[in-house]
Amino acid sequence: MEHLYDKLKKYGESDFYPYHMPGHKRNAMGSMPCEIMRMDITEIDGFDNLHEPEGILKKLQRRAALLYGAEESFYLINGSTCGILSAISCAVPFGGHILMARNSHRSAYHAAYIRNLKVTYVYPPMLKGYDICDFVTPAQIEAALEREPDVEAVFLVSPTYEGRIADVSAIAEIVHEKGIPLIVDEAHGAHLGLAEGFAPNSNQAGADLVIHSVHKTLPAMTQTALLHVNGKRIDRERLRRFLHIYQSSSPSYVLMASIENALRIVEDEGQKLFCRFKRFYFAMMKKLSQCRRLRFVVDDERRQDVGKLVIDCRNAGMTGWQLYRILLERYHLQLEMACGSYCLAMFTIADDKNAYERMTSALLYIDEQISAKDCREDEKAPESGGEAVQKSFILPAEQERQETNVQSVSLAAAWDMPWEHMRLDKAVGRRVAEFVNFYPPGIPVLAPGEVLSEEQYLNILEYLQQGLSVQGIDCGKGGENYRIKCISKEI
Ligand SMILES: Cc1ncc(COP(=O)(O)O)c(C=O)c1O
Repeated sequence: MEHLYDKLKKYGESDFYPYHMPGHKRNAMGSMPCEIMRMDITEIDGFDNLHEPEGILKKLQRRAALLYGAEESFYLINGSTCGILSAISCAVPFGGHILMARNSHRSAYHAAYIRNLKVTYVYPPMLKGYDICDFVTPAQIEAALEREPDVEAVFLVSPTYEGRIADVSAIAEIVHEKGIPLIVDEAHGAHLGLAEGFAPNSNQAGADLVIHSVHKTLPAMTQTALLHVNGKRIDRERLRRFLHIYQSSSPSYVLMASIENALRIVEDEGQKLFCRFKRFYFAMMKKLSQCRRLRFVVDDERRQDVGKLVIDCRNAGMTGWQLYRILLERYHLQLEMACGSYCLAMFTIADDKNAYERMTSALLYIDEQISAKDCREDEKAPESGGEAVQKSFILPAEQERQETNVQSVSLAAAWDMPWEHMRLDKAVGRRVAEFVNFYPPGIPVLAPGEVLSEEQYLNILEYLQQGLSVQGIDCGKGGENYRIKCISKEI
C-alpha cells in the first residue's frame, strides 16, 4: 500500500522543479520547518485530486471507510465544519425543514442559514447533578418527529463537547421509520468504534451521514476531518457537489497526509494504544475518586467518553474558570475549556503516563487543600450550587423554550434583518439579530430570531463578569457597557 506521506517525502527530495503553486516552491524561506514546506504541493502529476479522486486519494478514502465501517468516506481539509455544511445542505432541500439538537455546533446553524432552512430544535436535558447538557434521547426524537411530520432530516451531536454519547442506534431506527436520514456530528468521536470496549461509532450504529474531526481525538493536524456516508437515503452526487462548494479548491496535501498517518497508526497499533489509553484513564479515575470536593462525570463508557475529564467544582467553592487558571498557572496544565462550574481536560492515545499522573497529582493536591481548609475553619461543606459558585451555560428546558421562543421568525430570515445595538439589560424580551456563543464550545446560547430571556441575560452577564469569552456581545470601551444586536423592527 502506497502511503501519502512517503510519496510526498520522496517527491520533496527529487529533482522535479515546481513551476506551479504554492508560491514557496517547496523552499523553507523564513522560519517554517523545511520538511513541511518540501511536502506542501498542489494537484500535480501523480498526486491525484481530492475533488475528482482516481488514484492514491481514492484508495485512502476507501481505506478510511473500511476502518470506520462506512460505505464511503471523504477526506476533509476544512475541518468538521465543512462536513457539517455539506451534510445538511445535501440531506435537506433548500428551504426545507430540519430537526436539530439545540446543543449543535455553530456550523449546523450556519448551514441552516445558508440553505434557508426551517429549524425545529430538540433541547437536550441537563445531566443530573451537573450544569452540563446531556445527550438527546430516542424518546425526545420520537416525540419531536410526531409533532413535526414534515421534517426532512435529523441532526444531532454525539459525543457532546463534554463526552456524552447518545443511543444513536435507537435514534437511527426511529428516524429511518419516517424514511428520512440521520446526520450525526461525531466531531468528538473519531476514536469511537476503533477498538474493543469503546462505544460504536455512528456508522456502525446506522447513521446516514457521520462527521469526524480527526484532529480532535486522534493524532492528526488541526483542520483534518472525515465525512462518511451510508445507505440509499443520501444522494451521493449531491453530497459531492456540496463538498466541492465548501472545501478549498486547493486541498493541503500535508493535512491529507496527516489524516492518513493518524488512521495508519490506528490500523497498525490501535488495539495496543487504545488499551493503554483506557488503562491510564481508569487508573486516573480510581485515584481521583478519593477527591472529597472535586467531582467528575463518570458513567458507562458507552455513554461517557473516556477521552473527556469533566471536573466539576461546585462543591469546591470555586468556579471552573478559577480551577482552570490554577491548573494553568501553578501546574502548567493547559485544559481544553472552562465553564461556570466545571472545566474540561482531553485525553487521547497520544498521551503518555506522565500526562495522567500530572493531572492526577495536581487535582488530588488541590482537593486536599480545599478539604483541609474546611477542617481548619470547621466549616460545613458548601452544598452544590452554593453562593461562591456561578452557573454554567444552561439551555432552558424544552417546554419553557417552546412557550417563550416559538420561532415566528426563522433563523435564516432573522440574521438578515435590520438590527440595532441595545444595552444588554434593556434587551431582555427582545429578539436578537446575532449569535451569542460562549467560546469554547461554540454552541450558541442565542441564535438570531430568539428572544433574550431574563435568565439568559443573567447567565451572559455572569460570564462577562468572570472575564470569559462571549462572542456576539459588544463590550464597549469601558468593558461594562455591554451591548447586543436586536432585530430593530419587532414582528
Ligand atoms: C461538536 C462539534 N462539532 C463540530 C465542530 C467543528 O469542528 P472543526 O473544528 O473540525 O471544524 C466542533 C468544534 O469544536 C464541535 O465541537
